[in-house]
Amino acid sequence: MRKLAAGNWKMNGTAAALAEAKALIDAQPNPACDMLLCPPATLLAAMAEMARGTALRIGAQDCHAAASGAHTGDLSAPMLADAGATHVILGHSERRADHGETDAQVAAKAKAAQAAGLIAIVCLGETESQRDAGATLAVIGAQLQGSVPAGSTAANLVIAYEPVWAIGTGRTPTQAQIAEVHAFLRARLTDLIGAEAATVRLLYGGSVKPGNAAEIFALPHVDGALVGGASLKAADFAPIVAALSAA
Ligand code: PGA
Repeated sequence: MRKLAAGNWKMNGTAAALAEAKALIDAQPNPACDMLLCPPATLLAAMAEMARGTALRIGAQDCHAAASGAHTGDLSAPMLADAGATHVILGHSERRADHGETDAQVAAKAKAAQAAGLIAIVCLGETESQRDAGATLAVIGAQLQGSVPAGSTAANLVIAYEPVWAIGTGRTPTQAQIAEVHAFLRARLTDLIGAEAATVRLLYGGSVKPGNAAEIFALPHVDGALVGGASLKAADFAPIVAALSAA
């Protein structure tokens, strides 16, 4: 299995930020893991053009479940693929919160993404109050079951475990907490899609930084990271890619 270092730029970056993607390619021209940046949709085509022939892959941050139609402001999976995307993040907690996305909608989007030849990065994670209530595994199990479409394989599905309380906060779960959830995800995914689950990449996300990446990547069933804030600057993301390459 080739591990995956994925950067999520969220709603950050104008054309000037393409220089950071260029600097990342220069810093990590040949990583021993897959290296992905997911810029805002306005930068997809330009970044994909810049990354052509390099190790950097480009992803989107959302897609519509339909291939085309009367959906003002939305983007379909075939459009993202046409712009040069190979991956799309789906069901990020910010979209679940800001746009009320449900597990069923995430599953429909993931199915559309896979049909368009994209790798769906399906995000899930508990809130702080859910963890405090001891509901973490129940919440994550339900999100997994509801958000992963039938027909998913190791080639078209990545799962990102992102505790909501760890995103953008500088707080991370303990190593034991991450390891517990990732082992649980591997087992439940096996129930859902069978032996194929063994090689589905399971990413951890939430305040991953150069300083904590290596210890997180050493944990069992952690096959990479989904990185927000620390993916915006090549000087931060390149060492995270290096740590995953060395893991
Ligand atoms: P963060 O975001 O690395 O800034 O915590 C992670 C994410 O939301 O994917």
